[in-house]
Amino acid sequence: MTGQLAMRGGAAIRTKPFPSWPIYGREEEDALLRVLHSGKWGRMDGQEVATFEKQFAEYHGVPYAVAVVNGTVSLRIALLAAGIKAGDEVIVPPYTFLATASCVLEANATPIFVDLEPDTYNIDPAAIEKAITPRTRAIIPVHFAGLPADMDAIMAIARRHNLTVIEDAAHAHGAEYKGRRVGSIGHLASFSFQSSKNLCSGEGGILLTADKDLHEKCKAIHNCGRMPGRAWYEHFVISGNYRLGEFQGAILNAQFARMDDQTRHRDEMGAYLHEQLAKVPGIAPQNRGRYPVRHAYHLFSFRYDASVYGVPRSTFIKALTAEGVPATEGYALPLHQQPLFVNKAFGPYTACLDTHPGMNFENLPLPVCNRASAGEGAWLYQSLLLGGKRDMDDIAAAFHKLYDNRAELANAR
Ligand SMILES: Cc1ncc(COP(=O)(O)O)c(C=O)c1O
Repeated sequence: MTGQLAMRGGAAIRTKPFPSWPIYGREEEDALLRVLHSGKWGRMDGQEVATFEKQFAEYHGVPYAVAVVNGTVSLRIALLAAGIKAGDEVIVPPYTFLATASCVLEANATPIFVDLEPDTYNIDPAAIEKAITPRTRAIIPVHFAGLPADMDAIMAIARRHNLTVIEDAAHAHGAEYKGRRVGSIGHLASFSFQSSKNLCSGEGGILLTADKDLHEKCKAIHNCGRMPGRAWYEHFVISGNYRLGEFQGAILNAQFARMDDQTRHRDEMGAYLHEQLAKVPGIAPQNRGRYPVRHAYHLFSFRYDASVYGVPRSTFIKALTAEGVPATEGYALPLHQQPLFVNKAFGPYTACLDTHPGMNFENLPLPVCNRASAGEGAWLYQSLLLGGKRDMDDIAAAFHKLYDNRAELANAR
């Protein structure tokens, strides 16, 4: 096997690795040892988690934050705090991680999947409006890949229909929408600090809100139903122990000091790479120009046109990775077509089956999402954007090489 393409024995565009993730140093080491030696390892004992909550809330210009064990649980708590219950409908996008929709089932409510904007893969406000029924109670927009969803349009719909908006900002640490920090716009916001995320502590999550009542509810639900100022053995609401530990709090304090610079850098490199890749036939980077944003670039999302290359997305991704540019097909099966939804394997959360017995998740008319999952959507990882312009040029060179050698690529099938 010889040819120009690295997947067929040619020289790869790049052999040097891109920056790895997470990035850490002495600060994280000192922070962990600080907690270790303090002997205060739980959030009820130490100050690390509380300090992080304060910093993160201030950064977003909101008064309240509650750190929790992950970004799945934070969504769950947000819905419980918002009073979502059996029979309710919650509007969600289908092109996202499982938790955005599973939290709705876990509130015993029904996720209503609506389609995406074709050029951003963010939830389409026009589709939200069409999906509203008397049962609708909330919307969970995801800032997909770190690109802010159209929050003005979403908040206007929410105001008209008296709905709660929970921003799923798991991809969007430090992102800005028309000059406002993502996570400060909806009634509640949820972030994840899982290991791949742009701010990470291995596992972790946080809730933000500007609403005192919602904050008190989140605080109680994350801490066994206890209320601030009341006794340790007094439990007021159904809940669990979702508290984040002090080791993770310490890591987050150290990582948070790096976050804003990293976010600015990714946004700058992402904008530059966007310009370069927009010149490659058959490649369309996620449109970041609908309104002013700072893009968090948790993912560098692009659309792939198989008709230009004559090979399916999987072959293109393999060829790109062989050139030294790691990429992925992303959410290759849409959420509404996952076995969970096809088989309605909802465990004890059965209200959805009673209120929506005819719901055929698998065949919902969601053409943009289906196209994205089936073969159009793909992404590069955030850590690539921590490189410099020369690294971005290598990425662009790999894409151009695949285009220039598309005849060879088609034979590689
Ligand atoms: C969009 C989105 N929402 C929620 C989550 C859940 O976060 P976690 O992995 O911390 O539970 C993730 C994480 O992958 C995510 O990507």
